[in-house]
Amino acid sequence: MSEDMDADADAEALEPIPADEELETVAELAKRRGFFFPASRAYGGVAGFYTYGPEGAALKRNVEDAWRDLFVTQEGHMEISAPDVMPEPVFEASGHLDGFDDMIIECPECGTNHRADHLVEDATRIEEAESLPIPEVEALIAEYDLDCTTCGASLTDVPVEEFNLMFETNIGPGSSQPGYLRPETAQGIFVEFPQLKQYARNQLPFGVAQVGTAWRNEISPRRALVRVREFTQAELEHFVDPDEDEPPLHRVADVELTLYPADEQEADDGGEASEASRTSSDSSDGKYVTCTVQEAVDENIVASDWVAYYLGLARDWYERVGVDMDRFRYRQHLSGELAHYAADCWDAEAELGGDWVEITGFAYRSDYDLSKHGAHSDEEFTLFKQYDEPKTVERATVDPDMSVLGPEFGGDAGAVQEALNDLVERDPDAFDGEVVEVEADGESYEVDVEHTNFAREEVTESGEHITPHVVEPSFGIGRIVYTVLTHAYDRDLVDGEERAFLDLPPEVAPTTVGVFPLMDKDGLGERAREVEADLRQAGFAVAYDDSGNIGRRYRRQDEVGTPYCVTVDYESLEDDTVTVRERDSTEQARVDIEELPVTLTALRTGSTDIADL
Ligand code: GAP
Repeated sequence: MSEDMDADADAEALEPIPADEELETVAELAKRRGFFFPASRAYGGVAGFYTYGPEGAALKRNVEDAWRDLFVTQEGHMEISAPDVMPEPVFEASGHLDGFDDMIIECPECGTNHRADHLVEDATRIEEAESLPIPEVEALIAEYDLDCTTCGASLTDVPVEEFNLMFETNIGPGSSQPGYLRPETAQGIFVEFPQLKQYARNQLPFGVAQVGTAWRNEISPRRALVRVREFTQAELEHFVDPDEDEPPLHRVADVELTLYPADEQEADDGGEASEASRTSSDSSDGKYVTCTVQEAVDENIVASDWVAYYLGLARDWYERVGVDMDRFRYRQHLSGELAHYAADCWDAEAELGGDWVEITGFAYRSDYDLSKHGAHSDEEFTLFKQYDEPKTVERATVDPDMSVLGPEFGGDAGAVQEALNDLVERDPDAFDGEVVEVEADGESYEVDVEHTNFAREEVTESGEHITPHVVEPSFGIGRIVYTVLTHAYDRDLVDGEERAFLDLPPEVAPTTVGVFPLMDKDGLGERAREVEADLRQAGFAVAYDDSGNIGRRYRRQDEVGTPYCVTVDYESLEDDTVTVRERDSTEQARVDIEELPVTLTALRTGSTDIADL
């Protein structure tokens, strides 16, 4: 073996990089090695848009594939791909036109727009200022005497307003049909429910996934991929019957969760840990509860079994793609922080550069979305649920006598008739007296019950129309890629020389194997090219490198997280073997060229170890 190849035998751990230098170091690496960088630099760039370079695009694709593998293939759900642009009525119905706002404050001196809640978070110990009402945020800005971070002007008494985050556009020429870039991929699934339920043969539960772009006109994009204006979401909308369907909890019952419940966050100085906690550790404010999924459900720490199921399922997935579990927690939303559609929500959070960042939201959306789209559109957003046995039920009906209501209520008679029809379904007992009162168009009307032709009858029904509930794990792929990259960044000493490397899991590493000829002469280059071609044919992501000494080539691959490197040397020409070197340990083994695809697959999937070769 040559000295070059030997040079790398011993690796010695170094202290991790300090938190305040971590993100800067990763951003520098990301740009230099082609993971991601600000977009459209040739034209000055614009905040909140990033381009993934060759390494980043491959890492992102691998993370998305790992997500699909679990949440679509293994869990048996469907995947769709809906348009990014949707017409205005979709967002009127979904509540995004009215409720998808952030708090904005505009500096009166320089005109810079700030996110008011972020100014408060940066200046105080408050972690989730978005959950506070606007007057409280204004009061905090005055109390802490906060200034514009651009020009230093005082922001006291400057009004905080709501700013809708959706990007608006016009569909077709003119402005007659407004549209919006979807702020979440979820709406593309909800609006197609009437069609999708047929593909699921009208049987609950079923899940529909989508991996695609979401758009938010963020007031102040920040921290690289953490808050951007265009990003990829991987969302699963799991439609369930709330009365009957239960998650297969046993599959994740023993998974250990680190939970940060709302009451612990609200605790001033540590508070009491939940009785349920098996162990607890201090966070900055309250205490974490460490328990299994089963315990979290039994002791009602996570109220929804479905949400608990997904917390368990996702926890192992994060580990699989390279999130450091010592820098990970699930945090429950505070009540003021819940999105307009969510009944309960937990976020997966990762620690990046000393701050906690939400990487996924797990929401119980109840029947909010399907009910809204059902009410706003002409389609059926319900599902017919067949009873095991037909049921005989009492049904109350009215058949208002319009020959009486017409002369009595004039132009309002139609509205009164409709109100009577609604009321009999909601509250048949309201017809028990002689007169019934209904509201129509904001007015109150009294109607003689005898003129409503109220009746109760027994009917036999084979089923009922129900609106499914929705459980939604919503993953931000960009933030996960950023987390994986940051948590993978490591340094050590190899034979006294410092090396930076990414200890990415082989499944997500942009390149699986680097192929090097020891030298580009004496037929070594040709043989290495053959090895490269064979590995590509076998489906491996390969990088070929013949420049510089072998040690430098190892370092280049280490820095982009390539788990294995193969070197073709003079011995290879004689006995058809090569050196395989493993990234983290820097250990090496001699392998038959013919066996390379099988050996690398075994290493990649963890069924063998370099030391066993
Ligand atoms: N459908 C639910 C939904 O969209 P969300 O919590 O607003 O929920 C889900 O978003 C995930 O999308 C977040 O956990 C985060 O990872 C990602 N995300 C949200 N806004 C983002 C932004 N401006 N930049 C990057 N990722 C973002």
